[in-house]
Amino acid sequence: MKVVTNARELPSACAFVPTMGALHAGHASLFQLAKKYSENVVASIFINPLQFESQEDLAKYPRTPDIDIEIAATAGVTHLWLPNQSEIYPEGFAKQSAGPIGDIYEGKSRPGHFDGVLTVVRRLFDLVNPTVAIFGEKDFQQLHLIKAIAGEVEIITAPTVRENDGLAMSSRNVRLTPEGRTAATVIYRALTQAKTEEELRAILATEPAFTVDYADFIDEQSFTHAQSSSSDLRAIVAGWINGVRLIDNMPMGIRA
Ligand code: PAF
Repeated sequence: MKVVTNARELPSACAFVPTMGALHAGHASLFQLAKKYSENVVASIFINPLQFESQEDLAKYPRTPDIDIEIAATAGVTHLWLPNQSEIYPEGFAKQSAGPIGDIYEGKSRPGHFDGVLTVVRRLFDLVNPTVAIFGEKDFQQLHLIKAIAGEVEIITAPTVRENDGLAMSSRNVRLTPEGRTAATVIYRALTQAKTEEELRAILATEPAFTVDYADFIDEQSFTHAQSSSSDLRAIVAGWINGVRLIDNMPMGIRA
């Protein structure tokens, strides 16, 4: 694996996996999937300041550079790109707007977050010019919004990788206390057992350590609250344990 600091050192055709580091088995699964699309697998690690609501949240984001290099190399990344701020955000760079979908659910609790995500993803795509890019289904709203700005880049969706007890892997999980980590299993229980939105919320409410932000059924195609006419339903959940924000989602099947 080559570690590069400038996009000019990247191959001209590749499968691309953008990340913010703190890599775990979920990222490794994205790299492995990328190998199916190109012999060149480019991963980037860039902690994007534009997608954090506060300096405090940005400062708290885990940084594990040595482990990241090991995970990337083992999972088949051929080029690990560590861009610096000025390469991604030169003077006068274009900002992206996520539009109305960027202001609901995650966007409501994290104003400006999706504008920041789309701005960096567009810049990364412009610099790497990949054939395909791989994103995890765990950040379902992010995935929905990225598909809308991807242009020529084909977006490949990878399933959420889970711990043995069902908790979706996330770089933030390391910030949970042992009790919080146990409490977090309520999210998977709720997503796998509930048949309705009411049941979803009722199961989540059995865990006092989990403060729910939202627990809704959405229409996957439009990413808006499900209507009686919606097909392709998906349950989406977000909330906090020990002040750590956790999100997850699961398909709820096709409504007849
Ligand atoms: O999902 C992430 O890790 C980030 O939002 C992304 C897509 C790398 C953009 O910074």
